[in-house]
Amino acid sequence: MTKQHLEESRMNSIRVAVIGTGIIGRTLATRFAEAGHAVTVGTRNPGRDGLDDARHTGARLSSIQEALDSSEAVVWAINGAAMADAIPAYGRDLAGKVVIDATNNIGAPTMNSLALIAEHAPTARAYRAFNSLGWENFKDPCYGEETGDLLYSGPAGPGQTVTEALIAATGLRPIRIGDNDKAKTVDDFVTLWFTLAFEAGYGRNLGFKILTR
Ligand SMILES: NC(=O)c1ccc[n+]([C@@H]2O[C@H](COP(=O)([O-])OP(=O)(O)OC[C@H]3O[C@@H](n4cnc5c(N)ncnc54)[C@H](OP(=O)(O)O)[C@@H]3O)[C@@H](O)[C@H]2O)c1
Repeated sequence: MTKQHLEESRMNSIRVAVIGTGIIGRTLATRFAEAGHAVTVGTRNPGRDGLDDARHTGARLSSIQEALDSSEAVVWAINGAAMADAIPAYGRDLAGKVVIDATNNIGAPTMNSLALIAEHAPTARAYRAFNSLGWENFKDPCYGEETGDLLYSGPAGPGQTVTEALIAATGLRPIRIGDNDKAKTVDDFVTLWFTLAFEAGYGRNLGFKILTR
């Protein structure tokens, strides 16, 4: 990145909270910070042992509350089943923000938590993104000469710009497939990714590319 590009990206720096210190939270936080965004990683207990990796993402590590307080955009990257408690608890702190659900509640009837977000944070602009690829593909989105795409859903408008800037920060090309009535289609790509990676033998370094003519 040239000095000019770095300065331009800093001017458009997004204050983003990544909630969750697991591998996907750490990977996204690292990529966002590398792109010049102001990243805070939120964890339930910032003082606990075992957070060394989370301290080395280039982001600030804080409580979930502090991370939400300091952000205009929030990426949820916690255990999918834990969203049932987390969203009601923090819904008021999501008001008016861009809220991106990267969690997968595997085995539940609906993999995403968009309904919970709509219920507890009705003024948030919610997106479904960062959930349909394994973390390796956010760390490195290049496959030989090709760069991968990331399918996402959510409303057009200013929240879209923020969501696409965060996707672009990982190096992936954002592909909006529609409003959140298409979230299930995004989630179908999770199923496809798991099937290809683990059953069809392609492994975890597996991305998607949309081709048009
Ligand atoms: N692994 C991947 O490649 C990948 C890719 C895309 C999406 N995802 C999705 O992203 C989410 C995170 O996946 P992961 O593999 O990084 O790790 P994970 O083991 O599913 O989640 C670990 C994180 O969840 C947090 N957590 C667990 N229970 C919580 C609760 N009750 N309240 C608040 N936070 C809680 C932990 O927070 P503390 O720091 O507070 O302990 C930890 O940071 C999952 O929903 C997964 O489906 C994963």
